[in-house]
Amino acid sequence: MTTTWRELVTKGAGELAAGGVPSPLVDAELLAAHVAGTSRGGLILAPSPDEDAVTRFGELIALRRSRTPLQYLIGAGFLGVDLQVGPGVFVPRPETELLVDWALGALRETPKPLVVDLCSGSGAIAIAFAAHRPDATVVAVETDAEALVWLRRNAGPRGVRVVEGDATAAETLAELDGTVDAVLSNPPYVPDATAVSPEVRRDPARAVFGGADGLDVIRPLHRRAWGLLREGGRFGMEHDDTHGYVVPALLKEAGWGAVEEHRDLAGRARFVTAGKG
Ligand SMILES: C[S@@+](CC[C@H](N)C(=O)[O-])C[C@H]1O[C@@H](n2cnc3c(N)ncnc32)[C@H](O)[C@@H]1O
Repeated sequence: MTTTWRELVTKGAGELAAGGVPSPLVDAELLAAHVAGTSRGGLILAPSPDEDAVTRFGELIALRRSRTPLQYLIGAGFLGVDLQVGPGVFVPRPETELLVDWALGALRETPKPLVVDLCSGSGAIAIAFAAHRPDATVVAVETDAEALVWLRRNAGPRGVRVVEGDATAAETLAELDGTVDAVLSNPPYVPDATAVSPEVRRDPARAVFGGADGLDVIRPLHRRAWGLLREGGRFGMEHDDTHGYVVPALLKEAGWGAVEEHRDLAGRARFVTAGKG
């Protein structure tokens, strides 16, 4: 007897729920849609799964049940851009889209902007910005060898320049000092002792944790951003939601102007923006 996608999804969602996956039905639908080559909404019209599709779906459910991040299995969508991610690179989070949205607005009147993404990981920020501003020159800086493999894979076809280097070091992109229109960053910022979910534990620790107080990378990184920016250039950086006071205070004390804290729809402190001069 032929099985239907609805039956498979119901059974798969049950398995995910038994494995403690937080959103079992949505995940099962997304995995089914991936196998069927359609969207979640399109599943209802998709032809019944053949034997290969049933097997493939079962494999994906088993992987997700063992808490393999969903994005490793179906890719990560970020502001309309598809990114490949897997072991060794940080999975981009939807909340980081807010930072890119802000940058797109802040640079709306700047023709051919030069933008640097420090701590680029998969390239989410750099690539999404470039996709929405085809006239921009975008440079992505990353230090980690494993992350660089994913970054080059994602950024290469989209015209984003990838630079291997320490985002906090004065020599990294020294040739651009004083010329950059905007520096964007989502650095590692979680305080070391923070308890995190099984999915976050799959992210490389060096991508997530920022030392005892979470500020080990942020402290030197904002200084490097200052060096790169032209007068009037803008800086936007994501931070831990417990740092809604600490990070803006750090920037103000260092001499940044127009320091502003931004919250998400749930009211959590998410990112800070500031200006040079
Ligand atoms: C939280 S992840 C963010 C990745 C990506 N920007 C995003 O939003 O999805 C932080 C990234 O910073 C990289 N990183 C950490 N320290 C760095 C440094 N000093 N220089 C360059 N990259 C660094 C990590 O390897 C990781 O890929």
